[in-house]
Amino acid sequence: MNIIHLSDLHTGKSNNLEKSAILVDWILNNKEGHKSSLVIISGDLVDDGENWQFLQAKDLIDRLRNEDYVVLVAPGNHDYGPNGYRESQQSRVDFKELISGVEDYPHLYSEDGQVFIVLDSMAEEFSTVELWGAQGNLGLDQLNKLDLILDELAENPVIENVLVVLHHHPFDYLFYPGLRDHADLKGVISRRIDFPPRVNVLLFGHKHLEHRFNDPGENKEELYGIDMIYSSGQTVERNIEGNMIVPVINLDGFTIQRFEVN
Ligand SMILES: [Fe+2]
Repeated sequence: MNIIHLSDLHTGKSNNLEKSAILVDWILNNKEGHKSSLVIISGDLVDDGENWQFLQAKDLIDRLRNEDYVVLVAPGNHDYGPNGYRESQQSRVDFKELISGVEDYPHLYSEDGQVFIVLDSMAEEFSTVELWGAQGNLGLDQLNKLDLILDELAENPVIENVLVVLHHHPFDYLFYPGLRDHADLKGVISRRIDFPPRVNVLLFGHKHLEHRFNDPGENKEELYGIDMIYSSGQTVERNIEGNMIVPVINLDGFTIQRFEVN
């Protein structure tokens, strides 16, 4: 199975909506190439959590959903309020009602033996506004639920892969943009000794930097016992040749194909 991983589209800012529309056109017109019918957007879909931004983004996502694509969107800091650091309850409601349809996290979606677990890395951030920043915080409640879900999935023989998707980057240790409870998350998702991986794929965004964390000198996939750890960059950003990169992940071999979109 192939999945498409987009992130940090920040629609509503500059011409990101137009560029996102080009990405959607490409996905719809190139099914033979990417061979996927599932799109993950790992947060910061919109730039300021404004209602009009969600309405525009909804039109885009509906174009995919109307063609039978499954679109899973994790909430990011920019989805939940202006400038990505002023959380707004109204933005949270709009995100749920217009984009995700998800009431509770972790949110599970499964297809063909692949289980996708979408987390809300802003869940606990709403209660910790003593200092505004772009941090994330999953919270103990969500992490405990995730732990139980992973225990159950580990005992289910029909599950091939477990994928965890969140917005915040668990390896960005700076205070302002970091995931406050990244260490707890890693404790929950790490492979246990003598057991197969608890999580096969970990996907996130936030840092606008595309990277697979299997560098020879510091292989985090090996360290945490996760087959693939990957952050999609800001998909609407053009590279030096003027192309946007759409990463397509193959879940059979844990490989990434990068398609250039003009
Ligand atoms: Fe972000």
